[in-house]
Amino acid sequence: MVLGAKLEPFQMERMQSEWENRVAHNLSESGVHPMTVGELLDPSDREEIFGERLLYVQSNGSEALRTAVAALYPGADARNIVVTNGTAEANYISIWKLVEPGDEVVMMLPNYMQIWGVVRGQGATVVPWKLREEQAWAPDVDELSRILTPRTRLVVVCNPNNPTGSVLTQGAMREIVGRTARHGAWLLVDEVYRGAEREGEETPTFWGMYDRLLVTCGLSKAYALPGLRIGWVVGPAQTIAELWGRKDYLTISPGSLSDVLARKEASVLTIVGAGLQAKAHIEAIRLVRNLTEVRVWARNAARAQELAQELDSKALTVRAVVEARAAVTGADIVCTVTSSPTAVLLGDWVGPGTHVNLVGSSAPVPVETDSALVVKSRFIADHREHVLAHGAEFLMRHRHDNGVVVLGLGPSNGSYAIFVLGFIGIRPGVANVNLGAVLL
Ligand SMILES: Cc1ncc(COP(=O)(O)O)c(C=O)c1O
Repeated sequence: MVLGAKLEPFQMERMQSEWENRVAHNLSESGVHPMTVGELLDPSDREEIFGERLLYVQSNGSEALRTAVAALYPGADARNIVVTNGTAEANYISIWKLVEPGDEVVMMLPNYMQIWGVVRGQGATVVPWKLREEQAWAPDVDELSRILTPRTRLVVVCNPNNPTGSVLTQGAMREIVGRTARHGAWLLVDEVYRGAEREGEETPTFWGMYDRLLVTCGLSKAYALPGLRIGWVVGPAQTIAELWGRKDYLTISPGSLSDVLARKEASVLTIVGAGLQAKAHIEAIRLVRNLTEVRVWARNAARAQELAQELDSKALTVRAVVEARAAVTGADIVCTVTSSPTAVLLGDWVGPGTHVNLVGSSAPVPVETDSALVVKSRFIADHREHVLAHGAEFLMRHRHDNGVVVLGLGPSNGSYAIFVLGFIGIRPGVANVNLGAVLL
């Protein structure tokens, strides 16, 4: 970074910042109307939030949050993510890392002008790549080829685009990657508006299309949570490690409450076991938690693989994990649907607050887990007896005062069973209750 470099005023941001909380009608907002804390939280989460210690989160974001974010990007894991204070910081550390004085940076315009200002402040040159109104704000990829030079360090794209709202076709995305790759330049794609499209499908991510790629994103637009100031960069693990080093100098960590609140709606579930009950529990937990990823671990790895393949879909990533420790680390919910005479899960594999739920043990004590895990986890809801007796392939569901009620066909005796799914940790009031199945 060029210390003392002259930064031009970021006029749009300053104007908006001064006025957006003072006017009666804000026509300049580009995100979904922000949620309240109460809308984000289930009432039963309040106690948990009040108990949160206002500490320094690890400076690249908690492992749980990085894992949840990684689940949005096929093939990524927590090592590919650095959590930042908003997409703004994600963009800033990316430019700070990649751009040196004298570099050329090709930038799609019109655009949100943060990167424009930071690049120029670094002593580098912005080379405009203009979207054309007469082409419905589509880019001209041949023009991109014409403006790329040996000095081009980086190509900057905003997709969906702010301010035009235009979305690149998959063909255009491939062309941009291909032409950038020919020059060996980096590609930085700001995808903060993914999911905020007013029509059509969600814009696909550039992630996975190129190895010299950084994607920035955050919770400020489609997720309606700009005040959380949670953003991230997803990129190659080595580059992400270097960006983390920049964060140590800049803002250290994300706000600890923001890190917790950002995870509220995105949970990673680990299922230990791969039988019918395991499948039923994945389906059941999906009803009460917005799962981003399910990891399946079983002593029989082939069965874990089979179950993962059966359930993996566009809507939910389900994958088999070979090593038990890797399957459990960073998971928000661990549900054991297995029985083992020895502990298969150890205490130092889970973080404090992980929800652990034992289901399938036929032993008199829950031996799948060691006692340190029980102490560290949020709580154990042990209802294995009734599940063993009345385990169900879930068929139907409806809401109930105490939580979600799931109705299903019991595989063993053909009867129906009802499970009240308060135990997952959503509603502490019904935790630890032995939730007897009601036979119809
Ligand atoms: C394209 C773009 N990137 C980044 C940002 C900043 O986002 P955040 O609030 O997540 O820092 C904005 C804000 O409007 C934006 O339009």
